[in-house]
Amino acid sequence: MKIMVVGGGGREHAIIKKLKENPSVTEIYALPGNGGIAADAVCVEIGAKEIDKIVAFAVENKIDYAVVAPDDPLVLGAVDALEEKGIPCFGPRKCAAIIEGSKVFSKNLMKKYGIPTAQYEVFDDMNAALSYLETAPIPTVIKADGLALGKGVIIAMTREEARDAVRSMMEDKVFGASGDHVVIEEFLTGPEVSVLSFTDGKTVVPMVSSMDHKRAGDNDTGLNTGGMGTVAPNPYYTQQIADRCMKEIFLPTVAAMNAEGRTFKGCLYFGLMLTENGPKVIEYNCRFGDPETQVVLPLLESDLLTVMQATTNGTLDSCEVRFANRHACCVIMASKGYPTAYEKGYEITVPASVADSVYVAGAAIKDGKLVTGGGRVLGVTAVADGLADAIDASYAKVKQIEFGNAYYRHDIGARALKAGGN
Ligand code: AMP
Ligand code: GLY
Repeated sequence: MKIMVVGGGGREHAIIKKLKENPSVTEIYALPGNGGIAADAVCVEIGAKEIDKIVAFAVENKIDYAVVAPDDPLVLGAVDALEEKGIPCFGPRKCAAIIEGSKVFSKNLMKKYGIPTAQYEVFDDMNAALSYLETAPIPTVIKADGLALGKGVIIAMTREEARDAVRSMMEDKVFGASGDHVVIEEFLTGPEVSVLSFTDGKTVVPMVSSMDHKRAGDNDTGLNTGGMGTVAPNPYYTQQIADRCMKEIFLPTVAAMNAEGRTFKGCLYFGLMLTENGPKVIEYNCRFGDPETQVVLPLLESDLLTVMQATTNGTLDSCEVRFANRHACCVIMASKGYPTAYEKGYEITVPASVADSVYVAGAAIKDGKLVTGGGRVLGVTAVADGLADAIDASYAKVKQIEFGNAYYRHDIGARALKAGGN
């Protein structure tokens, strides 16, 4: 089978490595992939948002199955365009990807169907938003409506910060049209859990839970990033909470999307906060998380392609999706300075003994050598029977990898360990 994976980060590398385990997979193309992915797939210089070119490539190369991994092409309708040409895809259609593409949509969906989330107000007019902020409880959370490269959420600790956030989104348009509408919502507290799930629009199969580490610095200090590391499972996510989430959040969300005529098929990601008043949805993503995928898929014992095809075909109810009862830890190695300014072009040395555990996020090939090419450069995953061993093993591998200006957090998994992981 010829497979095409749209995207070019660590998540896509993890998906590709897992898909390769299926013996019927003969070729994998990554669009655009990256210098590291090139060791596992044929990289094609087509950007993830170039829908017309993606479709033309798939048709020309008789692709049997496509996986659209990033949010942008999903929200732009890549799956619809590929399906029109008869190419089966993993991922939601445009009408369902809106669950991530518009925060106004997702908040209104949750309100309409009684799915627990933070209280909120939507504003289209800046002055109305500013006057609401005069009396809103502080801290408060300001969210741009549309995709904003993961930066469209501002936690305002003071009224002044809240006003600045609204002005920057609605007046200065720092996120472009994404700031035409803003959501102002209640600040919630509690441990965060990521739950990725497979759904074919009828059945929901949650994957093993995970914990992201979003801040750049140790002890959750510094700027928000795309994610500096993950562990799975998340020790806060007990069976009792999982049962409650299934009943109060997962099944109601899938049913709500059906009721709206927006059946969701693919990976539905629930970003949850476990508050004193129960689990609440912080965000939905219409795709696999990054770097959650780099700990979740290594624990998947079932064949990924089979599960993805069952999701596409609507047969997930009869498909086995089994996860190992083990622990995984992924440490992201980044370029020093990320998420703001950083240098790139440094040679990366990965010993062959750890190459299987490395998911490359940002790298290029220059003069035949792998060089750094992004803020997040690569993720290093280890799996073990216990969390402490998984953490130690992934840091042991990190120490064997070298590149100029390498930076990583030293405490990935520390909070999970304290919370009772072992
Ligand atoms: P997002 O870009 O939607 O993933 O949000 C980024 C981060 O902001 C989340 O992972 C949370 O840590 C935080 N966040 C978002 N919404 C809220 C909220 N209502 N209360 C507290 N923290 C929030
Ligand atoms: N790790 C968070 C995300 O993928 O959005």
